[in-house]
Amino acid sequence: MGGVAGTLFVLWVRSGFSAATVAAALTFYPPLPTYTLEKDPNTAKHDYPQYNVKHFIAENTKLAGAARVYMVPTRVGNEVPCFVFRYPEAEFTIVFSHGNATDCGAMFSRYVSLSRELSVNVVAYDYSGYGGATGRPTEANTYCDIEAIFEFATKHLGYAADSIILYGQSVGSGPSVYLAAKEHRIRGLIVHSGLLSGIRVLTSSRALGCLDIFPNIDRIKRVSCPSLIIHGDKDVEINISHGKGLYEALPENCKVQPYWVPNRGHNDIGESHECRAEYMARLREYLLYLHDHS
Ligand SMILES: *[C@@H]1O[C@H](CO)[C@@H](O)[C@H](O)[C@H]1NC(C)=O
Ligand SMILES: *[C@@H]1O[C@H](CO)[C@@H](O)[C@H](O)[C@H]1NC(C)=O
Repeated sequence: MGGVAGTLFVLWVRSGFSAATVAAALTFYPPLPTYTLEKDPNTAKHDYPQYNVKHFIAENTKLAGAARVYMVPTRVGNEVPCFVFRYPEAEFTIVFSHGNATDCGAMFSRYVSLSRELSVNVVAYDYSGYGGATGRPTEANTYCDIEAIFEFATKHLGYAADSIILYGQSVGSGPSVYLAAKEHRIRGLIVHSGLLSGIRVLTSSRALGCLDIFPNIDRIKRVSCPSLIIHGDKDVEINISHGKGLYEALPENCKVQPYWVPNRGHNDIGESHECRAEYMARLREYLLYLHDHS
């Protein structure tokens, strides 16, 4: 082995990484599904039958009726559940891509409160291999998943493309930035605890670029909507330098006041009592900005 490949190999060994550790650290940890779905028999003959959430594990079952669920086919033949939280007369629709170790059952009450407190529709989905979805979780599949959900939301649910705000949390920044870079009709993008790229979470060396996934830092330059970056300054899983780098890379006309959250880590923004009100207020401020600048 010589040339570039040999050099890469040496660097790779020196830096102590293997492809397996890179993949394991970067990719997906689907939890055991936290919910089950039951087809609504009255809709069995529709193009997209509806499903009801039958039960949650460790979630408030009383909320179950808050979402309509559909199974949406992706371009590569997987089926992913799409959870729709409608808010009457909403101006905006948030399409939410969650983090790597959760699913729509575990996220359910957050979606309900985003919808109710911000007066928006929330369209959430599970990646291939997560929750009630079929298939395997891979980087490429998450792109097909979000594309299928976007198309379903605009064509079947009837939400205007320019009412849609893509919201990516953590690993969800990957599919969200991917779509935002090529779908220029969307209204907004929120990147919450996101990453510059997979490999940059692990090392500042560029030598392992061949193993990289979710190159958000390159794609975010092609975004064309006002974009809100949110990151906790105590995040030890994805350092705040990732949020700051994404902010810097945004085109100037897409920059809105970022939200650097004091004393918060990777998974606790908007959840604990004291920072929740501030989090919601920042989101509301962003929606108002979008409303005023359309
Ligand atoms: C993905 O989930 C695992 C397991 O919870 C966690 O250790 C890891 O830090 C997560 N990775 C990212 C990028 O959030
Ligand atoms: C983030 O990275 C900077 C620079 O390497 C470091 O000083 C800081 O402690 C890191 N933050 C956390 C919470 O680990």
